[in-house]
Amino acid sequence: MTIDLPTPDQYGQDISRDLRTRINKKLSINENWMSFDQYMNCVLYDTEFGYYHNGSPKFGSAGDFVTAPELSGLFGRALAEPIINIIEQMRDPVILEVGAGTGQLAVDLIGTLSAHSVYPRYYILETSAELRERQSSLIASANMKVEWLDSLPTKPIQGVVLANEVLDAMPALCFTKQDGKMHPLGVQAEKGNFVWSPGKEDYELSKIVKAIEKRLGYVLPDGFRSEVCPARDAWITTMAGIIEKGAILTIDYGLTEREYYHEQRNSGTLSCYFKHRMHRDPFKWPGLQDISVWVDFSACARAAEKIGLSVAGYTTQGQFLANSAAIQQLGIADTEDEMRVVQSLKTLLLPGEMGERFKLLLLSRNLLQNSLPGRDFRDRL
Ligand SMILES: C[S@@+](CC[C@H](N)C(=O)[O-])C[C@H]1O[C@@H](n2cnc3c(N)ncnc32)[C@H](O)[C@@H]1O
Repeated sequence: MTIDLPTPDQYGQDISRDLRTRINKKLSINENWMSFDQYMNCVLYDTEFGYYHNGSPKFGSAGDFVTAPELSGLFGRALAEPIINIIEQMRDPVILEVGAGTGQLAVDLIGTLSAHSVYPRYYILETSAELRERQSSLIASANMKVEWLDSLPTKPIQGVVLANEVLDAMPALCFTKQDGKMHPLGVQAEKGNFVWSPGKEDYELSKIVKAIEKRLGYVLPDGFRSEVCPARDAWITTMAGIIEKGAILTIDYGLTEREYYHEQRNSGTLSCYFKHRMHRDPFKWPGLQDISVWVDFSACARAAEKIGLSVAGYTTQGQFLANSAAIQQLGIADTEDEMRVVQSLKTLLLPGEMGERFKLLLLSRNLLQNSLPGRDFRDRL
């Protein structure tokens, strides 16, 4: 199926051409093949031409997608509730936000926390120098204090590691099953374009997918394709390693393992965003579109439990927001501004929008009590 996407401006086309050249060079020294996680890493994180580094607008109406903090300050206000419950249990708490986008969530959270007289140290860990600059100017204009880290804290922290829509942006491996064997689905160059290319059967990948099949109790059919993301599990392990007391709170598109690898979800979850059009071709305009792979929250929970964290909460964004005090205390909308709030709330809450697709996972260590507002879906993980 061909996708009808708008043509980028000349500046964008030049960036995409230069990135393409760089990827072609990598392919040429590796027998014209790279795994999908390597490709995703190049197109999103090449430090010059990659999507998160090349200066494209990304967020909001001029960009490619809208995240919850960009839609409404209510999201940050609602997130402040479980965060306050956690950091109130500490003397010198820290919030470490990973992948802070424009910095909007930091502004909303710090504002809400100070309204409750809660003043944690706020750190941001951001891989993109360009986004770090955008965050810095927004946070400075709000007169707030944040410290940017170049690497993870070397000493254990007490507090909350927060990541909204970051785990879906981590490079994932795509695979397909053929004749009962698991093959990585990689990338090759063909007539000036990049195309999918199945690689040789891969032992490590087979081991991961066979373990999934064993837990599910059925064998995935031939032709099934999907993704796994060892980088995400490694991220959870690393973050868990720096938390002495506190929690990781992640919010993202995602599913449980059983939903993710359901026989009917046989073409995976990979999604691309260009100028607010969602499609499934990661080879269109490399460097100019966002690529995301949904999160397997069961895998995140397993990685966390392996390193001693407890799964303290798992619910949908819709459930979480509908049960948060920030939203329950809203009045009836009768002005235009309030109507706009209602409109953004519908997008955040409704099942057909972000309400069901987005989930919150809370992973904790050494906390007295903590949970998330909304229905508890932990038994589904
Ligand atoms: C889709 S944006 C989400 C931004 C923001 N959290 C929001 O909700 O608007 C993904 C963000 O994660 C950052 N990012 C991706 N991988 C990262 C990593 N491993 N460590 C830190 N930041 C990362 C990107 O640069 C970007 O800021």
